[in-house]
Amino acid sequence: MNKLMIQGGTRLDGEIRISGAKNAVLPILAGTLLADGPAIVENVPHLHDVTTTVELLGCMGVQVIIDEKLSIEVDVSTIENYVAPYHLVKTMRSSILVLGPLLARFGQAEVSLPGGCAIGSRPVNLHIKGLQDMGADIEVKNGYIHARCKRLRGARLVLDMVTVTGTENLMMAATLADGVTIIENAAREPEVVDLANFLIAMGAKIIGAGSDTITIEGVEKLRGTRYRVLPDRIETGTYLLAAAITGGRVKLKDTTPSLLDSVLDKLRDAGAHLQTGPDWIELDMKGCRPKSVNVRTAPYPAFPTDMQAQFAALNTIADGTATIIETVFENRFMHVQELQRMGADIEVEGNTAIIRGTDKLTAAPVMATDLRASASLILAGLVAEGETEVQRIYHIDRGYEIIEEKLSLLGANIRRIPA
Ligand code: UD1
Repeated sequence: MNKLMIQGGTRLDGEIRISGAKNAVLPILAGTLLADGPAIVENVPHLHDVTTTVELLGCMGVQVIIDEKLSIEVDVSTIENYVAPYHLVKTMRSSILVLGPLLARFGQAEVSLPGGCAIGSRPVNLHIKGLQDMGADIEVKNGYIHARCKRLRGARLVLDMVTVTGTENLMMAATLADGVTIIENAAREPEVVDLANFLIAMGAKIIGAGSDTITIEGVEKLRGTRYRVLPDRIETGTYLLAAAITGGRVKLKDTTPSLLDSVLDKLRDAGAHLQTGPDWIELDMKGCRPKSVNVRTAPYPAFPTDMQAQFAALNTIADGTATIIETVFENRFMHVQELQRMGADIEVEGNTAIIRGTDKLTAAPVMATDLRASASLILAGLVAEGETEVQRIYHIDRGYEIIEEKLSLLGANIRRIPA
């Protein structure tokens, strides 16, 4: 199995480009199933989760052409079946995003039920209930969601919890439903807005994406389109923290600073000097040790759970004591035990971690347990004394494009050891 070796202690300094957003490209690729003609998606990051999505579409007989210039063309006219098999869904939970589009366009879908995952039980009950409220007949049997309908009908859907992929699944399903669907307590994440913009470009009638009420008027058909995916705000935040934790400087291009308000506020609190333009952010720590910052995760526009582990890493070497409260997922402190092995002083009680900053971390072999946890271990490795070995990095390849190359461009001493 591949691993990353990181020699800590280099202050990062340089410029890199941010890739397209993982959490936008996955629903958009699922959304191409709704189009009556070829859809071209641009600014697609080279990620393992994208490969899995392409494989999933391919399994259904959909034609997918990958262009080396980061674009993917999807032509659904050759579709042969409506099945998302277990072996793909178990490696990528967001495969569930094909359920709404398949049902709305073809009146049937068989999608493996995603199991639990490292960060909590993560049920999909709200996806299922919303589709049932739109008239779908759904049965869970042999580990699969079997869904059927004639034409879905518009409905008022009040989500019990704010769910990102749940909102996306239901919004996609509603685009071809008969009548108007109103999704209340909808997720407001920028990736939901990006998906809505993609669907609108295909002819969907959607208003309110980005607010907690989304209204969709169903149409008969959607057409193919060409669409550019928005930049990855979590990748952006992760590289800002990489510079901050090392006391360094970084300029990130092709990103959107306005999507990171809560993260940038925390970085300013940590002592970072930030400058932004329309599509770039520059962070400079001017060689200083970061100050501890308290974090409480919640749905957008509050602080993102996908940045929690990285801020945990920052706080391990910060000046002061920080409290981190995780309110979105039930078990998202898997990185804590690994950080402790590097000398971090962290106490966890329930959904709260108390982190006392220490002067230094020391290198250790550590194991990545999920995507963002992996990022936090790499950040810790950048400042630890000695050479840190991060194992199980397939998690990181799911969501960060060529992370070791980008960090090397910033001066980090990092290399991948192939299996
Ligand atoms: C998405 C993101 C993920 C991010 C998360 C929260 C993608 C592909 N992934 O995941 O990176 O960490 O949002 O910002 O976009 N829940 C239920 N029932 C449901 C659905 C969700 O109880 O039917 C709960 C979950 O267990 C969790 C909470 O709602 O506690 C939020 O989860 P959700 O927003 O659905 O996360 P994902 O969409 O899976």
